[in-house]
Amino acid sequence: MREPHSRIVLGLHRSRYQRHSLNAALDMGIRAIDTAFNYHGFAAHQTLASFGDLLAPFSVSTKVGYFPGAAGAVHSLDPGRLRYALEKTNRDLGRTPDLVFLHNPEQSVSGLPPEEARDCLTLACGVLANAAREGLCGAWGIASWRPGPLVCLVDGDTPRPDVLMVRSGLLVAIDTLDASESLAARWHLPAAAVWGMSPFGGRATDSIWEEINPKVFLRGDSARVCSRLQAAFRAAYYLPRVSSVAVGSDDPGHLRELLDSLGAEVNESTVARYRDLLRRQRGDSNSSSSRSASIRTAAPSST
Ligand SMILES: NC(=O)c1ccc[n+]([C@@H]2O[C@H](COP(=O)([O-])OP(=O)(O)OC[C@H]3O[C@@H](n4cnc5c(N)ncnc54)[C@H](OP(=O)(O)O)[C@@H]3O)[C@@H](O)[C@H]2O)c1
Repeated sequence: MREPHSRIVLGLHRSRYQRHSLNAALDMGIRAIDTAFNYHGFAAHQTLASFGDLLAPFSVSTKVGYFPGAAGAVHSLDPGRLRYALEKTNRDLGRTPDLVFLHNPEQSVSGLPPEEARDCLTLACGVLANAAREGLCGAWGIASWRPGPLVCLVDGDTPRPDVLMVRSGLLVAIDTLDASESLAARWHLPAAAVWGMSPFGGRATDSIWEEINPKVFLRGDSARVCSRLQAAFRAAYYLPRVSSVAVGSDDPGHLRELLDSLGAEVNESTVARYRDLLRRQRGDSNSSSSRSASIRTAAPSST
């Protein structure tokens, strides 16, 4: 078994939850997995518990905030439901989760008047903070796909999470990058407390990865030896600046490629130029053609 790689969290959102995938990850030194109350048809925790001793060496993060509903999963920050989910998570996993995130809290507060939204978020954060104090989880955090609406809701009364997890990588729009950093700043969270997620937007086979060349973000030899996906993965640690990235893979060969990319050096000036270009094109920065153009222009050879 290798030395632990704390910079990769194996995300289980799309996973088939097979023992051999977790075994392979462990052999490669990956010691953190990320799941959620609602993943794997709300059966993720029980399935992981059924793996017995295999789960023991992993640090397990999970999320609460989605509940089964008649027409699919429904989102709620209701304190009673969150508490129920935390207790059930402990029972189903057969152990205390190391970290529990509030899952996309922006969903529940959308459409509420600002005061009500602020109270709702503060209360929900309080439930998780209490749970950590009582030993229902080792630590707590916020996982947000769309952090923008949360920024103005955080004030001195909002409990401070241990970890903030946000989207990271080349598919993230500039508004989301800026909002992620603003949210982390509101809580005075250092980069070590910010995790990235979904570096390929869940679509590693998408044609966007043929259209853009993420290798321009790498320095020297790294640009020659890394594949486009490896380069995109490495760049995800800088867009925004995060300490770990939750990435999904059921394929040990793919995971190995990601691990091999960790030593690649990122050219931070190129990242800064890219962000400036996205900011200038705000509004259109989600289109793949505008993204490709920004990446081409940000490349060192074009300056
Ligand atoms: N709001 C939230 O809280 C939230 C939302 C989204 C995601 N997340 C977290 O982030 C994790 C990752 O997100 P995600 O799964 O949506 O997206 P992702 O990590 O961007 O993409 C996962 C996909 O990339 C493929 N892949 C990975 N490495 C590869 C490689 N080297 N070569 C080719 N393909 C590769 C995987 O396929 P293979 O299996 O074939 O390797 C998988 O289908 C989730 O599991 C979850 O933990 C949280």
